[in-house]
Amino acid sequence: MDPTKLRSYSWFNGKEYYNFSRRANIRALGISRQAFHGKPVVGICNSFSELNNCNAHLRQVADAVKRGVWAAGGFPLEFPVISLGEQYMKPTTMLFRNLMAMDVEESIRANPLDGVVLLCGCDKTTPAMLMGAASADVPALILTGGPTLSGNYKGRIIGQGTDGRKIFDLFRTGQVSPEQLEEIEGCMVRSSGHCTVMGTASTMAIIAEALGMSLPGSAAIPAPDSRRLAMAEMAGRRMVEMIAEGLKPSRILTREAFENAITVDMAIGGSTNAVVHLLAIAGRTPNKLALADFDTISRRTPFLVNVRPSGEFMMEDFFYAGGVPAVMRELLPLLHREALTVNGKTIEENVAQAPNHNHDVIRSASNPIYDEGGTVVLQGNLSPNGAVFKQTAASPHLCKHTGPAYVFESYQQMHDTIDSMDLPIDANTVLVMKGGGPHGAPGFPEWGHIPMPKVLLEQGISDCVRISDARMSGTSFGTVVLHVSPESGIGGPLAIVQNGDLITLDVEARQLHLHVSDEEIAQRLAAWKPAPPHFTRGYGKLFLSHVTQSHLGCDFDFLHAE
Ligand code: FES
Repeated sequence: MDPTKLRSYSWFNGKEYYNFSRRANIRALGISRQAFHGKPVVGICNSFSELNNCNAHLRQVADAVKRGVWAAGGFPLEFPVISLGEQYMKPTTMLFRNLMAMDVEESIRANPLDGVVLLCGCDKTTPAMLMGAASADVPALILTGGPTLSGNYKGRIIGQGTDGRKIFDLFRTGQVSPEQLEEIEGCMVRSSGHCTVMGTASTMAIIAEALGMSLPGSAAIPAPDSRRLAMAEMAGRRMVEMIAEGLKPSRILTREAFENAITVDMAIGGSTNAVVHLLAIAGRTPNKLALADFDTISRRTPFLVNVRPSGEFMMEDFFYAGGVPAVMRELLPLLHREALTVNGKTIEENVAQAPNHNHDVIRSASNPIYDEGGTVVLQGNLSPNGAVFKQTAASPHLCKHTGPAYVFESYQQMHDTIDSMDLPIDANTVLVMKGGGPHGAPGFPEWGHIPMPKVLLEQGISDCVRISDARMSGTSFGTVVLHVSPESGIGGPLAIVQNGDLITLDVEARQLHLHVSDEEIAQRLAAWKPAPPHFTRGYGKLFLSHVTQSHLGCDFDFLHAE
């Protein structure tokens, strides 16, 4: 590798004072001149944090990456970026995804880095890394932290989120005791790593691999498995080669790569959040996506992966069955086979011989779980710019349903009254919640999985149609319409729905219809008044001033690629 061609060359080489000073400051780390001089500098962008248990093991992963970089003749430098821990951050990590993406982009751009390995895992950290890397456009490779081990309570496999919610509903109705709940608390999340069902983190790790931005076979390796560290070492080695090859994200994140990622997302029954994140990542490139692209691809893609919440198994089982390469092999006729990946090979070269060790977990394309993909896009007068629905996690008998609305004007009202035995609702009711969008909430939180009202649970009714402009955790399930756009907080039609209005959900026809005349909707909207903004200063004000609606990815308008 010609050192004069390296991006870092101008920082450390030359006859100026600052070249000398920078070399002196590298040596302040206890590094000899021979160890770094003229070598490619590999940044290890680490979202480790003890405030984010999902990413808490990433320092060990970073050490393995460094080993690979040193072995391949590079010079590794690890640096932190903000970490977004799904479990703790308020009001929602989604408020900060764009901030993290800016941190990633500017940290890469401002520093003497020839390439970067990006360590992430928890829900928003992977899309933020992809967004930042796409904009910075220096050689970049995503390495996710892997899922946790499956939870296990007295021999019963339990997945964080998916089973946790079911268990908590049993606790709410007295079928699980406080003592049992405390015991379950200790055996549900058994290690660092991201949620071990097909939640947003697993989905985004798989999407990074499907895009070609991660090494093949890396997404599903469990976090504590020694093979994840071996993969990290390989990532470090490979990054040194990528720098020599000049293999940048702009060569990988093509229109074809995005279509491949959506196809895989549909086949795995991925989280609905993937729609927003993929729109945002693509928005950082010239290859923009539209919400309609997801529905077009969903219609032609079979649902193959039998992992919770849409299926039975866990991410650990998915890994043992063959992981992403096995799914992509099944999907090859639907994929752009020539799409380039970070290992320098095409998708087809990577997956053509991938074995499938368990056809119960990863079905063959000729024997799918469902003929269409997991996520569909709904249109109608209630969501003029679209809404998102996970059909594989919904109750089939509710996928064509008309019922009267019962409206929660805010999350707080829903939270305060959902367990009231006086709620005037029944199995036909369509629950509507306002104020869950990027402006209204603020930050577009995962409030869309409105808990089942106690009054229905006690009648043995476990699902009903629920509609909001919020998101939903990828670990959740139910007949839940999400991401209604435009949101109620800026005066979308959701803002004027009233108790008793009839609403039709027709998934096959992709329809979401409010049975109120256009004239009546216009009159109600004319009388509607927005709430005061949630923020008048700081990052929150920046967010409210520039965030786009969900059908555009909720990135900041000034961060879109020109
Ligand atoms: Fe971090 Fe689920 S809480 S991935």
